[in-house]
Amino acid sequence: MKRVDDFRLRLGKHELVPIMIGGMGVDISTADLALEAARLGGVGHISDAMINTVSDRRYETKHVKEKLALYKYNVLNEDKSSVKFDLGRLEEATRLHVEATMARKQGTGLVFINCMEKLTMNAPKETLKVRMSAALDAGIEGITLAAGLHLGSFALIEDHPRFRDAKLGIIVSSVRALQLFLKKSSRTNRLPDYVVVEGPLAGGHLGFGMDWAQYDLATIVTEVIRYLKDEHLDIPVIPAGGIFTGSDATGFLENGAAAVQVATRFTVAEECGLPTDVKQEYFKASEEDIEVNQISPTGYPMRMIKKSPGIGDGIRPNCEAYGYLLDASGKCAYISSYNREVAEHPGARKVQVWDKTCLCTHMRNFDIWTCGQLTYRLKDTTLRADDGSYRILSAEHIFKDYQFSTDNKIALPEA
Ligand SMILES: Cc1cc2nc3c(=O)[nH]c(=O)nc-3n(C[C@H](O)[C@H](O)[C@H](O)COP(=O)(O)O)c2cc1C
Repeated sequence: MKRVDDFRLRLGKHELVPIMIGGMGVDISTADLALEAARLGGVGHISDAMINTVSDRRYETKHVKEKLALYKYNVLNEDKSSVKFDLGRLEEATRLHVEATMARKQGTGLVFINCMEKLTMNAPKETLKVRMSAALDAGIEGITLAAGLHLGSFALIEDHPRFRDAKLGIIVSSVRALQLFLKKSSRTNRLPDYVVVEGPLAGGHLGFGMDWAQYDLATIVTEVIRYLKDEHLDIPVIPAGGIFTGSDATGFLENGAAAVQVATRFTVAEECGLPTDVKQEYFKASEEDIEVNQISPTGYPMRMIKKSPGIGDGIRPNCEAYGYLLDASGKCAYISSYNREVAEHPGARKVQVWDKTCLCTHMRNFDIWTCGQLTYRLKDTTLRADDGSYRILSAEHIFKDYQFSTDNKIALPEA
């Protein structure tokens, strides 16, 4: 019987354990988590979501405070078009995070960065270009383009000296999205080095509508593999979303996938950036506690635990400090929802906003608990203490369980 370790992912000269830990925004997939994946011979991701905030927390910069001080005059203004990111600070934050991570790297695996296009930052092209270029300058080994079609992203970095040497991949949820990307990027004369196919059971934002449940990862993966074969394109395909056991992963590898991308199992790892009490909430969640809703201002459906404290919270928009979701004209769907509630409740000290959430503030504070659909199975992956709490696992334990397990088994930690 085969297991994941019987397969290898080939990316250029690299031969890797075919396990990729997916990017999890605002430092949920920490450098420590990514570095464990690399040490064990796979691929780990850090994320550049809200990178200035991450830099302040980890590298003692003061970017958020400085930005808020600069734009404080605008806090009560609905129009956020003047609230811009300082590109030098953005470059600095990305460089600090990538350099600090790469300096600690051990092992034969790779460390990539997850770059979401939907973080439009009130200047989509300029900021995305700085984010990707700075990550390449600082030695990141690959960039995974996420949350968006990224039709112009390759072109933004085609002049970078590392454009052809770094690994570049894209996350898609349909053949159609991949076709569009390949068509628009063909001008740069460079194919992606890998394609992550993310199905409807993944965590974070979904590349589907609210009809996500009608789609199936295995079907989309088969379509993508067939399309690439028909086009004579030799690009590794990496399924993601709901791959919970080593056997699940092996099934995809036997059917032509080059590796798998996984995340949910690692949300309860010691190295994961979620606070310890939040990890317990992930363990405790039952299937009924998980929903896909439309409260993300990005417009993409997002999966989360229903009792996330950020849901319904009517905090004043925090764009002067953060502002990562402001579109090219300084708008975010949460601002309109918030202002509507304020107008409808004159004199109220605090309003509630149910249709959208201030995702920047709540992801920063770990108050939106985004998760994969199979989060409700996490409780079966560990032991329980006498006080009812679940044992946090090491990333190594989870990684090796994926790598070596068979028969749909999940290895429990040692008692
Ligand atoms: C807590 C959490 C946060 C996530 N954040 C991001 C993100 O910032 N960017 C992204 O492209 N995908 C994100 N994802 C998706 C994962 O990278 C991955 O593709 C997917 O969750 C894999 O499915 P699984 O969680 O069922 O293993 C996130 C997933 C989780 C569980």
